[in-house]
Amino acid sequence: MRALASEGVFHEEDGRRFALTPIGDCLRSDAEEPVGAWAAFVGRPYYWQAWGDLLHSIRTGESAFAHRHGIDPWGYRARNPEEAAIFDRAMADLARRASRSTLDAYDFGRHRTIVDVGGGRGELLVNLLKAHPAMQGVLFDLPHVVEAAGGELDAAGVGERCRTVAGSFFDEVPQGADAYVLRAVLHDWDDPEAVAILETCRRAMAADASLLVIERDIGPPNARPDAKFSDLNMLVAPGGRERSIAEYGALFVTAGFRLAESPAAGFGLHVIVGVPMPDGTR
Ligand SMILES: C[S@@+](CC[C@H](N)C(=O)[O-])C[C@H]1O[C@@H](n2cnc3c(N)ncnc32)[C@H](O)[C@@H]1O
Repeated sequence: MRALASEGVFHEEDGRRFALTPIGDCLRSDAEEPVGAWAAFVGRPYYWQAWGDLLHSIRTGESAFAHRHGIDPWGYRARNPEEAAIFDRAMADLARRASRSTLDAYDFGRHRTIVDVGGGRGELLVNLLKAHPAMQGVLFDLPHVVEAAGGELDAAGVGERCRTVAGSFFDEVPQGADAYVLRAVLHDWDDPEAVAILETCRRAMAADASLLVIERDIGPPNARPDAKFSDLNMLVAPGGRERSIAEYGALFVTAGFRLAESPAAGFGLHVIVGVPMPDGTR
């Protein structure tokens, strides 16, 4: 605790008593915007074991996680429900923390139906549905993730306006919605897989539907340590990468979208809006 007090997580008082600082307070599960689940996740042995093989990623450009565990993180968690639950709660912490600024950045209310592709336990979708009472949602993710999510949607009071669909975004996603959200999904993947995910969405979308990619901008050289270290984290674990807005724009074009706008959404995130290009114009 003394070490953490020296980093501002606690404040050491007389007599070796410790008080919470605002940073330490975020670790409480009843904090307004808790990040304790994220802290619990990054300390999991299987995760830092992958970081122990960082050199493999640096030498090869490939996932140290797959090298260490012989499987990608999604497959590993599908086989380890306890780790899946810890990871999904960590993602929900991050999504909750950024949801207000995300909703302020872009008028989601213009869309009647939204599919959250790789939406985890539905934290963002819950916030969208609460903010827009006429909106209908679809939570799409891997089977073990959506199975655990249904109860949370009901508990949040949006279960009647939100259905869950299990599947893989490399195969197909639900058709015919007005908007397709991909939050913190594309950065998990290298360019060929990211394009494949976007192409799956493109096939499901009508010509007037919108693609809403919510991701970090990697930022300029010598700045944005959060994005640069997240870039390393993406390389080490899922084998992905952070990107510039222009790099997302290039992926969009390859997959059949035009980048329309990219309003800043706080925490270094942007809502990167794609519009389907007519078939044959790529
Ligand atoms: C980094 S998490 C982001 C979750 C959520 N969008 C958020 O912002 O909190 C990536 C999500 O992609 C999902 N995912 C990974 N592979 C998938 C696949 N093949 N098909 C569908 N979802 C997948 C994971 O289960 C996970 O929920």
